[in-house]
Amino acid sequence: MTDMRSSPDAVSRALTEHSYLADRGLATVLYLALRLGKPLLLEGEAGVGKTELAKVTAEALGARLIRLQCYEGIDVAHALYDWAYAKQMLYIRTLEATGQAKGGGDVLHDLFGPQFLERRPLLDAIDNDDLVPPVLLIDEIDRADDEFEAFLLELLSDFQVTIPEIGTITCEARPVVFLTSNRTRELHEALKRRCLYMWVPHPELEREIQIVRVRVPGVPERLAAEAARFVGRLRTMDLAKTPGIAETIDWTQALMALGEEELSADMVDATLGSVLKYHEDLEKVRDADLARLVEEAKATL
Ligand SMILES: Nc1ncnc2c1ncn2[C@@H]1O[C@H](COP(=O)(O)OP(=O)(O)OP(=O)(O)O)[C@@H](O)[C@H]1O
Ligand SMILES: [Mg+2]
Repeated sequence: MTDMRSSPDAVSRALTEHSYLADRGLATVLYLALRLGKPLLLEGEAGVGKTELAKVTAEALGARLIRLQCYEGIDVAHALYDWAYAKQMLYIRTLEATGQAKGGGDVLHDLFGPQFLERRPLLDAIDNDDLVPPVLLIDEIDRADDEFEAFLLELLSDFQVTIPEIGTITCEARPVVFLTSNRTRELHEALKRRCLYMWVPHPELEREIQIVRVRVPGVPERLAAEAARFVGRLRTMDLAKTPGIAETIDWTQALMALGEEELSADMVDATLGSVLKYHEDLEKVRDADLARLVEEAKATL
């Protein structure tokens, strides 16, 4: 296994071994995050490989991946811990039924002890005894609200939590932390300051061709190149939702499943829904003269 902490090149190699092709900038910032033990904040459009980078890093490190998917309204009870109310009730009823519910203090102690604690991803990440520290992915942080972001900021500074009924839990082996954002809103300066930051762009053409070849085994070289070029061209158009690498991969798989070895206007027209997910975008691309766009994607090869 390549030691990712030895150099940016080693990071690149380790990621490549796990089918993730990072450019120099991304490999360098990930190397620094690993070396300095800082969280890495990845911003970028949909489907550029933000989530995947965290997953692949966990694989490459041989670490457990702990994922916290953020959403509007997420709170501490969903992210950190909660009490198993139903189990607690059952426990009390059982004690009552068997006539053991007398020593009030002891019962409370039991009720709010580890047995009834529901561990959520953040507690899992802090209170871990993994041999290799886990990778904590806090995905799509921009969907969570301000209070949750403030809470995370605190958590990421001291890596400890206090559960009033149990006490303070300190992290022995800090996880490698990734945060991702689609930038539906700006994150707070304070959070950004705590992290290393990277804007993940769409890949350059050559890299995207390589990614398709790695992710779609057996793809004809010509099809990979033409599809990547065509999607690259779509990204220069003013679309509601720009296609990411994920779409290039899905589309190439669709074309392959149809037995295609290169682009043709008919097949592009028939499968464009794998690339563009908005009706208006489909209309716009068709109006822009699909046949010509396909020719352009093929011409320069
Ligand atoms: N650099 C890369 N090398 C190899 N595969 C990649 C790369 N970037 C993206 N992919 C592929 O694209 C897919 C989508 O990437 P991912 O889900 O990580 O995007 P994302 O940036 O998290 O998007 P979203 O913002 O929609 O969550 C991955 O499953 C992977 O197959
Ligand atoms: Mg993602």
